[in-house]
Amino acid sequence: MPALYSYACDRLGSLAATTINPFEIFPEIIFRLTVTTTTSLNIAANPAACNALLKIFHGLDRAATPMTVLFPWFFGPDRMRRFHLMKQFYNTIHDTVEERKREGRNEDDPMQVLIDEGLSTIEITQFAIAVLFTGNANTAVIAPFLVCDLATHPTYLSQVREEVDAFISSFNPNTSLPLKTRLQSITYDDWTKPGCLPILERCLKETIRLRVGTPLHRLNDTKKDIQMGSVLVPRGTIVSFHTSFIHHNADIFTAPLAWDPERFSPGRAEHKKAPMAFAGWGLGRHPCLGQKFATFEIFLLTTLMVALYDIQVVEKHGKPLAEMPPVDLNNAVVSPPITPVHLKLSARF
Ligand code: HEM
Repeated sequence: MPALYSYACDRLGSLAATTINPFEIFPEIIFRLTVTTTTSLNIAANPAACNALLKIFHGLDRAATPMTVLFPWFFGPDRMRRFHLMKQFYNTIHDTVEERKREGRNEDDPMQVLIDEGLSTIEITQFAIAVLFTGNANTAVIAPFLVCDLATHPTYLSQVREEVDAFISSFNPNTSLPLKTRLQSITYDDWTKPGCLPILERCLKETIRLRVGTPLHRLNDTKKDIQMGSVLVPRGTIVSFHTSFIHHNADIFTAPLAWDPERFSPGRAEHKKAPMAFAGWGLGRHPCLGQKFATFEIFLLTTLMVALYDIQVVEKHGKPLAEMPPVDLNNAVVSPPITPVHLKLSARF
C-alpha cells in the first residue's frame, strides 16, 4: 500500500493550477499501480520503463482491429505490428527476469512468485500481458470519466467530497497532516468494504453503466449447436452482445443517456427491474476478477482529485463544458470521449 499511495499521491498532488487531460494522466498512474500489484516492483519503481510499456499497450490496442480478432490466423499488417510490439514487451520482461536471476535478488512481488514456481520467461510474459491488459483496459478510461462526470454534476461533486473527507477522517482525523500521510492509516480492505463510500459507489456504477458501451463476445467452441432463447448458435460461431442493449434501454433505465447515480439508490433500484440488467462487471460464470482492485484504484484517484482540487471540465481551448460529449458506441473497447475533454484544476488548499 505505501508504494501505491506514493505513486498516486505524488503524480496527482503535483498538478496544482493547471489544465490536464485526465485520459492521459490517469492511465499512466493506473498502469503503474497495476504493474506494482500484478507484475514487478522493479518496473513499477521506474516511471520511464512503465511509460514505455504503456506505449506498447496503446500500440497493441490500436492494432487490435476487427480483422485481427475475427481472423487471428491472417498475418496482415496489423497482425505484424502486434507481433513486433509483443516482441518489445517480451524483451522488457525477459531483461527484468534475467537481471533478477543474475543478481540473485529475491523481490516480494508477483514476478518472483512466477519465477519461484519455475515458469519460463515466455510464460511470465504471457501472464504479464494478460493481467496488464485486463487490469488497464477499462479502469484507465472509467476513472477519468468518473471524475469528469462528477465535475459536470456539482451537487454530486460536493456530496462525494464530503463523503471522502469523512471517510479519511474516520481513520485519521488530523487535518493538519498532508493527505498522503493521512491515507496511510487506510488499508486495502477499508477501501473495498461494501458500502464504505455509498455515494461514490453509486456514481461509479452509473459511470460504468453509461460509459461502458462495448460488445462482449462468446465463442460456441462446443461440438453442438446451442439454442439461446429464439436464436440458434451454431458450433464454431461467435456471439456478440452489446452492453448498450441493456445499459441504454429506456424500458429499464429512465432517461438512459442521463448521468443519474440515484437510479441505483435502494428506493429506485432500476437495475433490478429486469434480470441481468447491469452487466458493468460482467455476468454469469465469468464476471470481472479485478472488480475489487479496480474499485480501490478508482476510489483512491477520485478521492485525491476531489480532496485536492476544485475541478471544471473544459474543451481543448479552455472553454467550460456543461456536459460530457456523448459516448462512442462504435468502438470495440471502452474508449475516451470522441471529442477530447480536459480538467481545469485549482488547488483547494
Ligand atoms: C472499471 C474497471 C473494470 C471494469 C468495468 C471491468 C469489467 C469487466 C467485464 C464486463 C468483464 C466480463 C467480460 C466478458 O464477459 O466478456 C470483465 C472480466 C475480467 N476482468 Fe474486469 N473490469 C475492470 C477492471 C479490471 C481489473 C483492474 C482487472 C485485473 C487487475 C480485471 C480483470 C478481469 C479478468 C481477469 C476478467 C475475465 C474473467 C473471466 O473470464 O473469468 N478487470 N471485466
